[in-house]
Amino acid sequence: MCGIVGYIGKNNAKDVLIEGLKRLEYRGYDSAGIAIVNDQTKKKVSIVKAVGKVAALAEKSQKRALNGSVGIAHTRWATHGKPSVANAHPHSAGRITLVHNGIIENYQELKNILIKKKHIFTSETDSEVVAHLIEQECKKKNFEDAVYATLKQLKGAYALGIINSDEPGKLIAVRNSSPLVLGVGDGEYIFASDPSAIIQHTKDVIYLEDGEVVIATASGYTVKTLTQKIRHRNVQKLEWNDEQAQKEGYAHFMLKEIFEQPHAIADALRGRMEIGEGLARLGGLRSVTDELREIERIIIISCGTSYNAGLVGEYMLEEYAGIPTEVEYASEYRYRKPLIDKHTAVIAISQSGETADTLAAIREAKRKGALTLGIVNAVGSTIARDTDAGVYNHAGPEISVASTKSFTSQLSILVLLTVLLGRQRDMSFTMGKRILTEMKRIPRHIDTIAKQDKKIKKLAQKYKKYDDLFYLGRKYNYPIALEGALKIKEISYVHAEGYAAGEMKHGPIALIDKDLPSIIIAPKDSVYEKTVSGIEEIRARRGKVIVITTKGTKELEKIANDIIEIPKTLEMLMPLLTVVPLQLFAYHFGVARGLDVDQPRNLAKSVTVE
Ligand code: AGP
Ligand code: GLU
Repeated sequence: MCGIVGYIGKNNAKDVLIEGLKRLEYRGYDSAGIAIVNDQTKKKVSIVKAVGKVAALAEKSQKRALNGSVGIAHTRWATHGKPSVANAHPHSAGRITLVHNGIIENYQELKNILIKKKHIFTSETDSEVVAHLIEQECKKKNFEDAVYATLKQLKGAYALGIINSDEPGKLIAVRNSSPLVLGVGDGEYIFASDPSAIIQHTKDVIYLEDGEVVIATASGYTVKTLTQKIRHRNVQKLEWNDEQAQKEGYAHFMLKEIFEQPHAIADALRGRMEIGEGLARLGGLRSVTDELREIERIIIISCGTSYNAGLVGEYMLEEYAGIPTEVEYASEYRYRKPLIDKHTAVIAISQSGETADTLAAIREAKRKGALTLGIVNAVGSTIARDTDAGVYNHAGPEISVASTKSFTSQLSILVLLTVLLGRQRDMSFTMGKRILTEMKRIPRHIDTIAKQDKKIKKLAQKYKKYDDLFYLGRKYNYPIALEGALKIKEISYVHAEGYAAGEMKHGPIALIDKDLPSIIIAPKDSVYEKTVSGIEEIRARRGKVIVITTKGTKELEKIANDIIEIPKTLEMLMPLLTVVPLQLFAYHFGVARGLDVDQPRNLAKSVTVE
């Protein structure tokens, strides 16, 4: 998600921190801020914040005397509270100032307790709570012990950089489920979310592990565990250049983002599942809980990959929540005569939250009296602001033009929404619990699929000569056929067609011959046998077939040319897995054809024209 940097040493901290933020900007860029211990004897911490890119912060901090050699800085990708100066980090409470990357799940609960203890909050963020908690603990404990006492109370994901004006020569950094690297220089130490902010100063780093705390002064550092035991960590040498560091060693952002999916999904689910109760809790929809109970029809509007996610949502919502659902291309929807009443909910799905077609359609639906909801990744974006309520993905910035992690994140939110709406209606406690239990396993399953990357790469190289590809799937995996084909078109400029497997025999099968390979998504689900018959029909016409299927479907080995296996899960969750090999295949296919996969021709990350 966001980027954090911390510096303690002999040089001017401001320059190191601003430069570091610029290199981390790709991680998030809605606002930025810096805190410097300006005068250690006077115990004074100066803070500068600005909305927008790091350049705005750099300009603002030019005008301020920031001369210390200890400081922390942050470039924000908002999760809690809109992008604004008040919400920008660093956040302070009394003597404590900190930067945070991640999500504090139980922040509301902690905030309520602190408010009773007369703490006054100035931002809407979850992060500010951590500063107040440490400040509260500092009333009875020393700085270090107060940090430990606070960590025991936090639930969620965090990387923190913390300073204390009463102990101005010390910097404490913590890592738990959000990345943090310590750079070990000559008489200086730099913390950062990734090595790109460190590499210009030193190539000696320690990748901190979850549950590690670093206490640093200008003369040294100690790594400790959460139980305050000292840990001896070896320093490793970075072999990367600047650009490689931003991509964390991956050749492209697209590949990095495919591999980030387990993490992005875990972030989408964080604090939103009560498995024991079989319930999903979506804070952003709390204000419309009663309206949601009255909904009789859902219309999902979106474009491209977000549209394909909506199609999967249609199957989920109809089958498990029992609500009639339609999915519309946003660009078509607004030119139709939409039939809407007050029991219709219109859901916009958008990664960027700025897609002009989706925005226009949602505004039209609002005019007609629908309850409008958003599933949006970019906090504070126009669609997020214009809808009545909504859910954020928390997938972090997606840099590659081709969407990957935002797709599986959107599917994860749709699963939660299905459970929420289903449990308001007929869904049993057992079913709610079953879906959520299986959902929790999805990140691990994706890790297993990602391990087949080399095999999929070979497959892509084998098929790279073909200029046409067919993608086929049924039921939950029909939209995945569309998404697989869209990925190929976008980054390989190869014609690919996604089709409902059962429709083949009604026309397109005439195209099949030895020069048109098909990629068929056939996991063991309720339509498996039917999909297999389709594979036989293609093979009978000399068409080559790659099958994506679940582990242990031996009979396919005889008929398919190539097989990629995925782990088993519930039928409704299968798309979260079947799409991953298709993303990897498209990526390697594009690379094998020598193309710039991160920035394909003719496309833009956010389509803000109609
Ligand atoms: C996906 O790979 C594409 N870049 C594109 O189809 C995209 O999904 C579409 O433009 C919608 O964008 P949004 O989710 O930001 O609204
Ligand atoms: N949850 C914090 C916020 O919304 C940190 C987000 C980030 O990682 O940038 O401010």
